[in-house]
Amino acid sequence: MNIETLYLKNFRNYREETFSFSGGINVVYGRNAQGKTNCAEAVFYLCTGYSPRATKDSQVIRYGEESAYVTGTAATSYGKVEVGLTFFPKSKRVLVNGVEVMRMGELLGNINSVFFNPNDLKLIKESPEDRRKFMDISLSQMNRRYFYALQKYKKILSQRNRLLKEGDEETVRETLPVWDEQLAAHAAVIVAERNEFLKVLSPLAADAHSYITDGKETLAVSASGRYEGDEKSLKSQIIADLNDSRERSMALGYTTVGPHRDDIKIKINGEDVRVYGSQGQQRTAALSLKLAELEVFRLRFGEYPVLLLDDALSELDAQRRARVIGRIKQLQTIITLTDRDEVPAADRYFHIEEGGIKGE
Ligand SMILES: Nc1ncnc2c1ncn2[C@@H]1O[C@H](COP(=O)(O)OP(=O)(O)OP(=O)(O)O)[C@@H](O)[C@H]1O
Ligand SMILES: [Mg+2]
Repeated sequence: MNIETLYLKNFRNYREETFSFSGGINVVYGRNAQGKTNCAEAVFYLCTGYSPRATKDSQVIRYGEESAYVTGTAATSYGKVEVGLTFFPKSKRVLVNGVEVMRMGELLGNINSVFFNPNDLKLIKESPEDRRKFMDISLSQMNRRYFYALQKYKKILSQRNRLLKEGDEETVRETLPVWDEQLAAHAAVIVAERNEFLKVLSPLAADAHSYITDGKETLAVSASGRYEGDEKSLKSQIIADLNDSRERSMALGYTTVGPHRDDIKIKINGEDVRVYGSQGQQRTAALSLKLAELEVFRLRFGEYPVLLLDDALSELDAQRRARVIGRIKQLQTIITLTDRDEVPAADRYFHIEEGGIKGE
């Protein structure tokens, strides 16, 4: 799928601008703080309804303005789609093909994207939470049922934790089984989807990594969880685990088992990349995961999502960079960087200055 046009009005530092993207490699370049990431952020908003930065929606409204507007059109295998978002100080409005979307889940899956920026090194280095987020963003776009199960799971989990922390013992013992039944049902959906995702992703990530490193490194990705099987069996395994851990959870005041504790194990040449990987290896591994994610989308939907590479190539050596470019030629990519020459053979260039396109 390709984003064809992106129109921005009072979005971040853009007053009013229109991008016409090529279906191949688009390079958005310019000096620091000119609006390159803002452009990538706007595209991600069209796909998911939220920012890839940890930011409040209202912060995208251009200083001194009352609202911001982003709209985009995309060509997909199921036809043309137009998405529009209007941001107000306290709310936002989302339209898909002119029809207002009431639940954010309905926006997901219209235009799919994979976003990568230097922060995604966290995907390798930092807490399991970042790796769960990787699966969640990806799977929420692929499957609305996952998105809704995740929302409900999080809500019930926080209610259950509040009960564990604040409830008196008798109430806790009486009400937990009711919570656990619901919690396990949503957990089973989440775990089933994550297991399947990692099963498909793993060989694809190994393949991408081997390609970028010219066969010098082997990447192995696997689920850390021990729940396996179909949804029904997952649900009973999780209920049993919740039961078994009840005393411990009551003593600690939070839920000690479930998909909110999942992680992804990532190894290069047999060693834990978190502990032993160099910065470049970690970056390459993170990129390999994202490239593999593109392939998972293609396997599921028969077409690639839009790839957003925000400042993601600059820290790779020239050879690795060239290999990544070679790999992504077949899909629409929007790359932001400061030095145009880093990607010499793009299909289209946008020179960004002070929130506007200043030329090619
Ligand atoms: N709501 C807003 N209104 C006006 N300007 C904003 C708003 N939010 C952010 N900006 C401005 O946008 C600029 C940053 O844009 P952006 O993050 O896209 O930079 P960039 O071109 O990606 O730079 P870098 O190369 O440093 O990553 C900053 O100067 C910031 O002040
Ligand atoms: Mg930037």
